[in-house]
Amino acid sequence: MANKLKVGIIGLGSMGSTHLDIYSKIKEVEVIAIADSIQSRLDGSSKAEGNISGQAEGGVTGLSAIKYLDGMELIENPDIDVVDICVGTDLHFTFVEAALSKGKHVLVEKPLARTYDEAKQIIQLAEQSSTYVMSAMCLRYWPAWVFLKEAIDSNAYGKCLSLNFKRQTSFPGGAFYSDHNQCGGALLDLHVHDTDFVNYCLGLPEAVFSQGYKGPSGGIDHIATHYIYNQSDLSPLVSSEGSWTMQEGYGFNMSYTANFENGTLSYLLEQDETLKLFRSGSEPESINLKEGMGYEFEIRTFVDEILSGNSTNHDLLRQASETVAIIEAEKTSIETCSLVSIKI
Ligand SMILES: NC(=O)c1ccc[n+]([C@@H]2O[C@H](COP(=O)([O-])OP(=O)(O)OC[C@H]3O[C@@H](n4cnc5c(N)ncnc54)[C@H](O)[C@@H]3O)[C@@H](O)[C@H]2O)c1
Repeated sequence: MANKLKVGIIGLGSMGSTHLDIYSKIKEVEVIAIADSIQSRLDGSSKAEGNISGQAEGGVTGLSAIKYLDGMELIENPDIDVVDICVGTDLHFTFVEAALSKGKHVLVEKPLARTYDEAKQIIQLAEQSSTYVMSAMCLRYWPAWVFLKEAIDSNAYGKCLSLNFKRQTSFPGGAFYSDHNQCGGALLDLHVHDTDFVNYCLGLPEAVFSQGYKGPSGGIDHIATHYIYNQSDLSPLVSSEGSWTMQEGYGFNMSYTANFENGTLSYLLEQDETLKLFRSGSEPESINLKEGMGYEFEIRTFVDEILSGNSTNHDLLRQASETVAIIEAEKTSIETCSLVSIKI
């Protein structure tokens, strides 16, 4: 293909390596530059690991790309069309701002930013920019969650009565995850997936009630939240629990249970038949899902949007920013042991 999109990836940790692997399978793009402040990650003598199978598969060995020790230098390269930001969350705002100032398309890992104030600034910059900006909220593209959103939107099994999400893992370790000032603890880093998915499906809750405790990041590393919607219109009962305080060896798991008037959907990552539908009077049914992880569908969508000349989906981007506001309300709820209204 003559004019491939030229991508530069900043940060070659577990997520940067995952993105690198996915780009290598998309024929319309070419990764022409990579940046990491750790030399051994650039030359391939050390490599990050993922916490689910299929993550962090990309490697730099044999990759013909310009290598930078500082992501800011990569952004200065005029040949790069797309900057993919996979550094720690506390650095997202700085790199998004720099990349947009140089007219690059931007994919930024989740959560959109470390704080809601920074997330709002990203929204403003994206609105002023003519390039495509996307927040990598991968769960929105994960086949079992795509199925669930469609079931809710279409009323395929009747009205949704309750939703419960769970995401639990042993502590990931490493400098970034060990400092809640950088990563925001499991509350922001891990649980943000479920809070964002609730926001994506049902819109902003009126309030949240959360409880949690601190863990190895020094911040909230185990959290349980009830998302409060207006009960007068009989909205579903919604809750989620996230943790990275499981003992070593537990690994990673994610699951959901969605109860509808005429069916119950149950997903568990570790099962052979991961998504099941239960309906009274029928045998349990296994749902065939599209093969693949959310990351690849997310990046495919990002590339397709740029190649089609579409402008940023500002509604989805704004939603990712408001998700950070919900997370901050969850933190306040834990600290005050009270119901906290969501004020945007
Ligand atoms: N979508 C998901 O499921 C998912 C999973 C894991 C992590 N993440 C997100 O991805 C981001 C990165 O997480 P990770 O696990 O890959 O972290 P990581 O610490 O493993 O990797 C970050 C990398 O960025 C590099 N870096 C830091 N400052 C830099 C700079 N100025 N220039 C160039 N490189 C620099 C570090 O050396 C490190 O290699 C976080 O925001 C995290 O929340 C998302």
